[in-house]
Amino acid sequence: MPTIQFQLNGRPTAVDSDGDQTLLDVLRSRLGITGAHFGCGAGECGACHVMVDGRAMTSCDMPMWSVVNKDVVTLEGLGSAEQPHPLQTAFISEQAMQCGYCVSGILISAAALLKRNPSPTETEVRAALDRNLCRCGSHNRMVRAVVRAAAEMATS
Ligand code: FES
Repeated sequence: MPTIQFQLNGRPTAVDSDGDQTLLDVLRSRLGITGAHFGCGAGECGACHVMVDGRAMTSCDMPMWSVVNKDVVTLEGLGSAEQPHPLQTAFISEQAMQCGYCVSGILISAAALLKRNPSPTETEVRAALDRNLCRCGSHNRMVRAVVRAAAEMATS
């Protein structure tokens, strides 16, 4: 079984994998990184989003061979309880979640957006979150939270 090497949350990581195993499976079952969630398993809901080379991508349908030498960032790489990412504090301030199952994927999509566009319009935020489903209907609060985080990041 080949060893697949990549960066995970800023650290060099090596995993023995047949290459067809999905990144989500490796993260959750082999590496204990559980921020990305399994939702649809078909690349449709966004619960499993991680950042790969700065872009939000679904990890449930991403084979390990495709992440060789890539830079992967999960929710665990965004911030911590002690040092939360501005998006995380903004989501709390706006109470932008209910059940919370989708939120890690949404935070990843939002973080990828703010990396490429630090001052997005509300329309741009909505477009960036278009591939993330939230069954609780918290979308409007989430959009407000992303705009709020962008404003706070611009002044810090
Ligand atoms: Fe990957 Fe739904 S679980 S997109």
